[in-house]
Amino acid sequence: MKNTLRACIEKKQTSYTPIWFMRQAGRYLPEFREIRKKNSDFIKLCLNSDLVKEITLQPLKKFDLDAAIIFSDILIIPYGLGQKVEFKKGFGPTLEDINLDKIINTDPNNFVQKLLPVYKGIEKVKNNLKEKELIGFAGAPWTLLLYMLNKESPKNNFDFNKINKDKSLINILLKKIEEMVCLHVDKQIESGASIIQIFDSWAGLLPKKELSKYCYIPILKIVDHIKSKKIPVICFPKGIGENYINFCSTVKPDCISIDYEVDPKWAKEKLNGIPIQGGLNPKILLEDRDKIKKNTENYLNIFKNYPYIFNLGHGVLPETKPETIEYIIQTVREKK
Ligand code: CP3
Repeated sequence: MKNTLRACIEKKQTSYTPIWFMRQAGRYLPEFREIRKKNSDFIKLCLNSDLVKEITLQPLKKFDLDAAIIFSDILIIPYGLGQKVEFKKGFGPTLEDINLDKIINTDPNNFVQKLLPVYKGIEKVKNNLKEKELIGFAGAPWTLLLYMLNKESPKNNFDFNKINKDKSLINILLKKIEEMVCLHVDKQIESGASIIQIFDSWAGLLPKKELSKYCYIPILKIVDHIKSKKIPVICFPKGIGENYINFCSTVKPDCISIDYEVDPKWAKEKLNGIPIQGGLNPKILLEDRDKIKKNTENYLNIFKNYPYIFNLGHGVLPETKPETIEYIIQTVREKK
């Protein structure tokens, strides 16, 4: 069926469960590692439109997936704002100190100029994709703000009060980030992205009373902007637990991606019939086939007769065997 994934988001009856994987283009694929070996600068790799196209299409050549997600990174936005971003092996991203003047004074035209190869890459993928969906994406303002101020993954070191100290700095930065996310999304849509996903990977670090200011309201602005372009938007506010209810009732995304800590039965009951994506713990993919099948079918059974996109509760882990991705797709395809 053509555009099954989109039909699912539009709550139309579909003949099968659409499937794609967060981080489907990435380090678990030997063909990605091969390219990565020859390209030590990760941001430069994200700005090579031919390689962006090649890496984006790698998982689609290998597997029967319903969508491609453009090979890029959420930290391309700080890069576009003039903040240097590096990826050190085994450590994750490192960002330089922010220069507020430089960020605030970044001209939108210069931002777009710097990221032009990303948009060129999307055009190139689009010309090779035919009927499948092409997912564009951006980091949510909170997750981007966090990387920009923390300068490394909060996994290594994080203190909310330190981040939250300078309120006027935060308000200025959030506003600029929101603007640039909207611009980045517009450019992706113009270049051929047919669905947008917003990743708020660190929403779970926010104290409950700060969720509205840092997570719901900034994302709501972006979601409304994307909806005005008649493009579906999927949101992934990872780690917010029962606050998924408030997130959905405030932001009203077209589809909500649940993480592996969310009980799928609870989500189906509580999230007001909004199409749901994902959930399966990526660690299950490192287990034996019986366990993988059982857990995959559990999500399929719970979401039978509900608009559901099969995906994981976070990205594919680098240790995952490509055959496991194949096996899950087969399991999803065979189940009716
Ligand atoms: O999903 C896809 O296949 C598309 C590509 C994609 C990447 N990053 C490529 C990548 C997407 C959608 C992202 C999003 C992203 N990047 C997020 C949100 C999703 C999530 O995982 O929570 C975040 C928080 C980042 C920031 C980032 N980029 C980190 C923390 C790291 C290092 C550790 C890690 O998870 O890999 C990256 C690097 C990165 N982004 C790699 C890839 C393929 C690995 C690069 C390498 O080879 O070292």
